[in-house]
Amino acid sequence: MQTGVGQSHAKIILIGEHAVVYGQPAIALPVFAVQVKVTVTPNPALHTPQIKSAYYNGALTRAVGQMQGIRRLIEQLWQKLDSDQTAFELQIDSDLPPERGMGSSAATAIAIIRAFFATYHQELSQQELLKLAALSENLIHGNPSGVDAATAGATTPLWFVKGQPLQPLPINLQGYLVIADSGQKGQTGAAVNSVQNQMMSNPEKTQPLIEHLGQLTQQVAQNIAQNKLTALGANLNHAQLDLQALNVSNSQLDRLITVANQNGSLGSKLTGGGRGGCIIALAASQTAANELAQALLAAGAIKTWIQPLHDF
Ligand code: MEV
Repeated sequence: MQTGVGQSHAKIILIGEHAVVYGQPAIALPVFAVQVKVTVTPNPALHTPQIKSAYYNGALTRAVGQMQGIRRLIEQLWQKLDSDQTAFELQIDSDLPPERGMGSSAATAIAIIRAFFATYHQELSQQELLKLAALSENLIHGNPSGVDAATAGATTPLWFVKGQPLQPLPINLQGYLVIADSGQKGQTGAAVNSVQNQMMSNPEKTQPLIEHLGQLTQQVAQNIAQNKLTALGANLNHAQLDLQALNVSNSQLDRLITVANQNGSLGSKLTGGGRGGCIIALAASQTAANELAQALLAAGAIKTWIQPLHDF
């Protein structure tokens, strides 16, 4: 048996987070510049499987807390693919910041599954990849829509509706997205639960916000198709107002968004679960994107990435 390698990438949600849990569409983009690589090396000399990563080093059986979902996934893959149950070392090398709304857990799961199937020379369909990724995502996030894993496994931007076949959504705009990490851990699980509670306790207020986010996502798709960058920026600003009303933004994200909009952004919003994590800001040119990134770093963002929107 030889070493097997699997890779995946970060994701951002352009629009539709939270609403996507309630059946509305979302548009999500792979961020290929931010990668995770997993290497599985079977080693009969080991007594028990070992994990090496920036967040946990040690026996698989002792991986608890945040690693619980990943552990469950690895145990299932090992059981399914290796009839001899040969121990292995699994190394995770990730550029993705964890818990920042960039899909770190989903990307890690996708890379692990690909690495295992490569190690044991098994064919892996897209359907099986996403089914297996749901094993760990359900444990980590409770009731995920599946958009994170779908985008971590995708090679194009996606139009995503929960439970429906994935639809590629080609993007060819002159704009750029600046992604800025607030440095605060996002709280996807807590944010998703809170929206669920609001949906139960106050559906009159919550349901229209979810539906409005769905309408904005439809408008974003039209504006992408018609190359209308300014209108797209306005859609992002409106989505942020809905997300604020759903109580999934916070003061740090709001502050970065204000700074972005004062420094040339055409529109900005949080991305992912919220309550920390990252924002995205739309810029009309590479120069504008660079200036925006500098302004966001000066305002306290700990890292920025620039994602071009052409030929995507
Ligand atoms: C998280 O990246 C996106 C959410 O809509 C949750 C989900 O869809 O599973 C907040």
